[in-house]
Amino acid sequence: MLSGSNVLLGITGSIAAYKAADLARRLMDEGARVRVVMTDAACRFIPPYTLEAITGHDVHVDLFQDPYSHINLAAETDLFIIAPATANTINKLACGLADNLLSNLWLTYDGPAIIAPAMNFRMYKNRIVQSNIRNFKKAGIEISGPVKGGLACGEEGEGRMSEVSEIVEAAISIMTPHDLSGQKILITAGPTQEQIDPVRYISNRSSGKMGYALALAARRRGAEVTLISGPCSVTPPDGVSIVFAESSIDMETAVFKHLDKATAVIMSAAVSDFRADSIAKKKLEKSDVNSLKLIKTADILKKLGTRKGKRFLIGFAAESGKNIKRAADKLKDKKLDLMVLNDISQEGAGFDTDTNIVSLINKSGDIADYPVMKKIEVAHIILDRIKKQKKGK
Ligand code: CTP
Repeated sequence: MLSGSNVLLGITGSIAAYKAADLARRLMDEGARVRVVMTDAACRFIPPYTLEAITGHDVHVDLFQDPYSHINLAAETDLFIIAPATANTINKLACGLADNLLSNLWLTYDGPAIIAPAMNFRMYKNRIVQSNIRNFKKAGIEISGPVKGGLACGEEGEGRMSEVSEIVEAAISIMTPHDLSGQKILITAGPTQEQIDPVRYISNRSSGKMGYALALAARRRGAEVTLISGPCSVTPPDGVSIVFAESSIDMETAVFKHLDKATAVIMSAAVSDFRADSIAKKKLEKSDVNSLKLIKTADILKKLGTRKGKRFLIGFAAESGKNIKRAADKLKDKKLDLMVLNDISQEGAGFDTDTNIVSLINKSGDIADYPVMKKIEVAHIILDRIKKQKKGK
């Protein structure tokens, strides 16, 4: 997600400096080239050698080691992250002081930046720190955290550096082009649970990972996302409006409640096709039950097809086998703009995996086949179709 990006990671003298090693690694996992600049105080918390070993590049500390590093390093940077950022560094940067390599680089750099403060909560609450942080925000600089929690000094309060995953997420969101801004995308995810009695239900193996990946990717691309989720254990992405729905009836109600403002709908939930004819109020005794009467649930996607208006409507077809004809028939029947076919019999596709293998079928019958991809990558190729439609292609 950060491939091709040059990230300059500035580390200052806080106990949270040890987390910067993990941050560097995670940014590299996302494809970034990471260069590191440290203050003298940071070197007392974590040796530069650790960051050199992780990044494979020299770590820059001394302003006078190279006469032009304060200019050249900044010129090569696409994103400047200062994590952890102490009160001292925040206040210095806000005043435009340049008394070490990091603060010189800050003055010469003019691009997207993230500051992740870490300090005692009293220092964080200080009026000067607060006012400087407000000014950074006004200038369009992303402030990640700090969060509330146990501090190194043994006290509790707002001062802990953001989780590394949150800083990485902020970096990805900043570096991802917001080509879906203005779109309001309604996404369903996960299975539904159809109650039989107070302890039993009918459901399926959907993990929700595909729908959650779609929500995350759409939000990163600037869309306003409403995620209607069946019961699943995936963590919802930040910045997405989430609505939980247990049964197919709950999901249908939620979908039509949020449909009006949507510009596109992606129905990736594995809605149960059947539910019990009636829900028993008390737990059924097995000796009393020989068979269960099931009835079909409403086909939410088909109903959406009749009420879609100008919305771009995307459905999923989970098939045992690459059954293009069947998926294309479903696309027509449900009046979709795009059908995502996944052959769940293939390794690396389908339920509860982190990858998927899909074919995209459009209204004209064009088929695009894709190899095994991470679900987040599949999400992007699906969202590209909404972007194309937005441009009227
Ligand atoms: N779907 C729906 N409501 C249902 C069942 C399915 O909205 N009650 C949606 C799913 O979210 C998916 C699409 O319909 O986007 C296709 O679901 P699928 O189960 O593959 O197809 P069905 O039309 O239900 O046919 P079958 O189960 O016979 O394959």
